Amino acid sequence: MEHPRAVILAAGEGTRMKSSLPKVLHPLCGKPLLWYIVQSAKAVTSEQLLVVGHGAGQVKEYFGDEFLYVSQKQRLGTGHALQQTLPHLPAEGEMLVLCGDTPLLEKEVLRQLILTHRRQKAAATILTARMDDPGGYGRIIRSDQGKILKIVEELHLTLEQKKVQEINTGTYCFDLRALKKFLPLLPQNLSKGEYYLTDLIPVLLENGLEVGSYIIADAEQALGINDRLQLARAASRMRERINSLLMRAGVAMIDPATTYIDAGVEIGKDTIIYPQTILEGDTKVGENCLLGPGLHLVDTLVGNEVVCRQSVVLESVLKDGVNIGPYAHIRPGSTIGAKAKIGGFVEVKNSSIGTESKVPHLSYVGDTKMGPDVNVGAGSIVVNYDGRRKHVTNIGEGAFIGCNSNLIAPLNIGDGAFIAAGSTVTRDVPSGSLAISRAKQKVKEGLAQKLMKKKQNSRKK
Ligand code: UD1
Ligand code: CA
Repeated sequence: MEHPRAVILAAGEGTRMKSSLPKVLHPLCGKPLLWYIVQSAKAVTSEQLLVVGHGAGQVKEYFGDEFLYVSQKQRLGTGHALQQTLPHLPAEGEMLVLCGDTPLLEKEVLRQLILTHRRQKAAATILTARMDDPGGYGRIIRSDQGKILKIVEELHLTLEQKKVQEINTGTYCFDLRALKKFLPLLPQNLSKGEYYLTDLIPVLLENGLEVGSYIIADAEQALGINDRLQLARAASRMRERINSLLMRAGVAMIDPATTYIDAGVEIGKDTIIYPQTILEGDTKVGENCLLGPGLHLVDTLVGNEVVCRQSVVLESVLKDGVNIGPYAHIRPGSTIGAKAKIGGFVEVKNSSIGTESKVPHLSYVGDTKMGPDVNVGAGSIVVNYDGRRKHVTNIGEGAFIGCNSNLIAPLNIGDGAFIAAGSTVTRDVPSGSLAISRAKQKVKEGLAQKLMKKKQNSRKK
C-alpha cells in the first residue's frame, strides 16, 4: 500500500518557553526540536507538509526547500492550523498529523499507528499514551464500553476527568475524505476562541464515522515539549538513545550519563570515551581513539588512534595518531598532522601543524604553517598580531624552535633551521641556519656574595 502523507504543525509561538526563539527551533542534542519528528515522518510518509507561522522565516531557512510550507497567519489553534492545509491535500488517501514539539516519537510507533488505522478502518486513529503524570495533556474520554467519545484539554477538565491517565499525543492518522468534509465544520472553542483539532472527534462520531486509537507502550515517547523543563527531560532521553546506539556499534563509554553527544556525530569502533566529554555539531571520530575526560569537540574531524584529553577543539582536523592535551585549546581552522603532539597549555589557531611535529608545553601558535618534524620548545610564542593586522609564519621541515622564543610574524623559518632558546626572531631564517637573538650573558665573579652580605648588614641595623 502507498505511504500516507504527513502534516506537521509547527506554527505555534511556544509562549511557555519564554524565549525569542520559535519553540520548534530550540536545540535538542544539536538539532532543532522540529528536526526529530521530521526524520520520523520522512521514514513512513511520502510527502511532508509543514504548517509554519511564528518564526516561519527562521524555520524555512533551516529546513530549506525540503518540504512544502503552508503558512498559518493567525494562530487560532491546532484545528485552525490543519484547516490551512486543506487546499493543498488530495481528495482521498491517508494522512498523518504530527506536532512539531514531540521529538521522541519514533518511526516504528508511527508505522504501528498507520497499520492500526488501516485495520480498524477508522476515519481517525489517535495515538494515545498512559501517563503516571498526565498533567498538561488533553485526556482521552471513553465510554463504559471503552469507545472514544472525546478529548478534553487540561483547561476544561472536570475533577473526575483529571484522574484519566490516557492522554492525547497530538498525533493522528486521518482518512482524507473524512478530513476534507468535516474539518471545515470544526466548532470554535468558546472559552479560548481557538479551533481545537481535538474537537473534530465528536464531529466525526456524530456523523457516524469510526474513531480508533493506538496506545504507545513506551509512554515517554509521547513527551510534548512546552517549556524548558520538558526540553531538558527530552534531551536527557535523547542522549540515552544516541549513546545506546553508539555503544551497540562498538564505542566504549566509561559513564554514558556524563557523555554528551549530538545527534549525527559519528564515532568508530573501539574508541573509548571518558566522562564529561561533549561532542557537538558536525563531528566525526575514527576508530581506537581515547577521548576525555573533560573534552569538548565542536565540528571537528578526528582520525584513528587519536588521544585527546581535557581540551577544547573547535572546527579543526586531528589526523591519525595525534595526541592532544591535557589542557590544549585548538581554535577554528587548524589541522594537526598525523602523530603530531599538542601538549599542556598550548593554544593553536588557524594553523597547520605538520606530521610528527611537537608543540608540547605552554605555547601559542597562530596563523602558522608548520612543516613536519618540527619541535617547538616550552613557552615559545608566534607573535602573529601587531595590534592592527594578523601576519603569517612559515616554519620549515625539521626546524627546532628553542624554548621561550618569540617568532615575530610575518616570518619564514627554513627547513632544519635552529632558533636558540630565548630568541626574539624578527627576520627570516634560511634553511639550515642558526638564529640567536638574546642579550649576551655577563658573569661578575664574587659579586653575588658581596651583595648578600650588604643585605644582611642592613637588616641587622
Ligand atoms: C496539544 C493537544 C493536546 C495534546 C498535546 C500533546 C490540541 C487542542 N491539544 O496540546 O490534546 O495532549 O498537544 O502534546 O490540539 N500549533 C500551530 N498553530 C496553532 C497552535 C499550535 O501550528 O495555532 C502547533 C504548535 O506549533 C505545536 C502543536 O501545534 O507544534 C501543538 O500545539 P501546542 O500549543 O503545543 O498544544 P498543546 O497545548 O501541547
Ligand atoms: Ca505541545
